[in-house]
Amino acid sequence: MGAAHFSMERVFREFLVWFFVWGLLSLTCAGRLSVSRQNFEVHKHLNRLNKPPVKSIQSPDGDIIDCVHISKQPAFDHPFLKDHKIQMKPSYTPQGLFDENKVLEKTKERVNPITQLWHQNGVCSEGTIPVRRTKKEDVLRASSVKRYGKKKLRTVPLPRSADPDLINQSGHQHAITYVEGGKFYGAKATINVWEPKVQNSNEFSLSQLWILGGSFGQDLNSIEAGWQVSPDLYGDNNTRLFTYWTSDAYQATGCYNLLCSGFIQINSQIAMGASISPVSGFHNPQYDISITIWKDPKEGHWWMQFGDGYVLGYWPNFLFSYLADSASIVEWGGEVVNMEEDGHHTTTQMGSGQFPGEGFTKASYFRNIQVVDSSNNLKEPKGLNTFTEKSNCYDVEVGKNDDWGHFFYYGGPGRNSKCQ
Ligand SMILES: *[C@@H]1O[C@H](CO)[C@@H](O)[C@H](O)[C@H]1NC(C)=O
Repeated sequence: MGAAHFSMERVFREFLVWFFVWGLLSLTCAGRLSVSRQNFEVHKHLNRLNKPPVKSIQSPDGDIIDCVHISKQPAFDHPFLKDHKIQMKPSYTPQGLFDENKVLEKTKERVNPITQLWHQNGVCSEGTIPVRRTKKEDVLRASSVKRYGKKKLRTVPLPRSADPDLINQSGHQHAITYVEGGKFYGAKATINVWEPKVQNSNEFSLSQLWILGGSFGQDLNSIEAGWQVSPDLYGDNNTRLFTYWTSDAYQATGCYNLLCSGFIQINSQIAMGASISPVSGFHNPQYDISITIWKDPKEGHWWMQFGDGYVLGYWPNFLFSYLADSASIVEWGGEVVNMEEDGHHTTTQMGSGQFPGEGFTKASYFRNIQVVDSSNNLKEPKGLNTFTEKSNCYDVEVGKNDDWGHFFYYGGPGRNSKCQ
């Protein structure tokens, strides 16, 4: 009995040891497998996003701009776009209320032209489009390969359901103006460009316009464009031109720039997601960018123009549900996200980091804000409202004059004596 007991014990002990070793081995294997699985996913995604370039340009900020043949761009990965005939120009552009050149001559405040940083090192030829190359690090900074290039949920300002509890939870803060309660077919704004400080790498600061359709439910349609500082998305603190779209409230559809298939770019000079240069300085020269987005009354696509002459391309009509008809809300302004965890407010700046009351060369502005009506005319917005969650942190002030039409100053420093 004793011997048998002894050997049973030994067998059991040996079994335990082997079981332990086997467990360790399989854990390491699984670990290696999941790392290589992630590598595989990242590379697959990079291959999808980065199309073979005709030529590449190294930008001073570390970006690589790939000149990709226009018919090889990411949009054409979309199953609905396989047989799409690319439209090289809009059938109609909205009829202007302001003659920009006349306004600029008259404007006492000198505002300077603007370019993108990569222009210093080359150009893309006609028939190609400049695409900011996505690097492995870019994808690895995202919470997952699937979420790379997408907004976190619920980032649209919700003026009508301004429930402070909901707003504080998401950490998103806005200082915006908006119009609602009509049918809108586009919008325009000239946006002052700054480089706000962003305190934490998972925060951002942006200035943009929103063209919204549908209710604020799961089916919200949105087209957005402006400038942003977003360390997580781009890996630096530069101010970059961006666009966004979604047709399901930021869930499965849509993305920033050309990071999914959707937007069809036709322009060879302006790259989405590329750094804007120069930017405005405090008491120094001011720079601004004009953005016009409108629905072409013929084909129904949503077109975007940058500055006075750069038609960038279009979002095909079929991407959207509500926006396939028209927009119901247009918003202009700034947004930051506050991720400070120590109970204080973030010091991330909005706009220039100054409050609206500071005025020109100190606070950031939007000027000549307009909407497009059903006759494809640019019109002054009627019944402009404002919205902020915490005006002691970031605020907005509207005005109107002959040079700037409807305009507003917006922004703020974040944490200060009245915003803790
Ligand atoms: C961005 O700015 C933050 C704070 O302003 C700084 O800590 C960080 O090093 C900067 N990141 C880069 C990549 O320059």
